[in-house]
Amino acid sequence: MVSKVEVSESNVILTERLSKVYRSFWGLPRVRALNEVSFAVPSGSVFGLLGPNGSGKTTIIKLLLGLARPTGGRAVVLGKPAGDQKARARIGYLPEESYLYEFLSGRQTLDFYGKLFGMNRQLRRERTEELLNTMGIDRRDRNRRVGSYSKGMARRIGLAQALINDPDLIILDEPTTGLDPIGTVQMKKLIKELQQQGKTIFLSSHLLADVEDICDRILILYRGRVKMTGAVDELLSLKDVFELRARGVKQELQDKLSDLVESSGAETISAGAQRAKLEELFKRVVSEEIKQKDN
Ligand SMILES: Nc1ncnc2c1ncn2[C@@H]1O[C@H](COP(=O)(O)OP(=O)(O)OP(=O)(O)O)[C@@H](O)[C@H]1O
Ligand SMILES: [Mg+2]
Repeated sequence: MVSKVEVSESNVILTERLSKVYRSFWGLPRVRALNEVSFAVPSGSVFGLLGPNGSGKTTIIKLLLGLARPTGGRAVVLGKPAGDQKARARIGYLPEESYLYEFLSGRQTLDFYGKLFGMNRQLRRERTEELLNTMGIDRRDRNRRVGSYSKGMARRIGLAQALINDPDLIILDEPTTGLDPIGTVQMKKLIKELQQQGKTIFLSSHLLADVEDICDRILILYRGRVKMTGAVDELLSLKDVFELRARGVKQELQDKLSDLVESSGAETISAGAQRAKLEELFKRVVSEEIKQKDN
């Protein structure tokens, strides 16, 4: 399924038939990692890219950042072609695995990235303290080297590093990887707060349950192709569709259940709908059966 994409000022990311084939190297076969992927990310939204391992999530992110080049289609990020340097300065990026310099402390790490963005000493100091507070890194841990941090703390420093330049667009590759349930909740809370500050967040995950409650829109990727895309409420309502089929249901009972049944045949009824409706139908079939047996 290819989504219809509208070119609009309010889309922070726009891709059109984005494709990537990794070239063969040292005799390895060519890999078609992405196949005509089109989607749009509205400004101010939390957009979730979902898919199993190897479905092409990191490849999309690399193309959006200009770290890899597409073999087909195009991507526009913050109104510029993907990889544009001016646009890149407005993007924060948390890689799949944060490459932190383990001998630097949390505080030094943020200061270092601030320098890379050309921030002056005063601004770096303010921004570093602000981010350490937001990320909930304890005062006593701030001067400890990040090599000794727990996974959750390292992930939070990774996110802080992605935010040092106060970006408008934040791209997070598997932000909840390696986090325990509490760490996951904290990370999601941070993402929501960033959205409230007006930022657009684009994140990837292989677990729907990890991100469904924070995403406004999701795209489901499978083997480099778009399987589904849309608002989370719409997609999740699909998840709740069940079907109930009952056999041996007499005509008299079928008539009584006609408000709930969608199709019926000789002694069979069937209905496919929301869980609540089917539970009601199931209850009524059972209670009517019991009544009939009692008579
Ligand atoms: N540099 C590369 N050279 C060749 N093939 C690659 C390269 N990078 C990725 N691939 C292949 O492209 C496909 C998509 O990989 P990608 O890393 O984008 O998936 P992913 O959805 O991020 O997976 P994961 O959940 O494991 O991070 C995979 O088959 C992968 O092996
Ligand atoms: Mg990946």
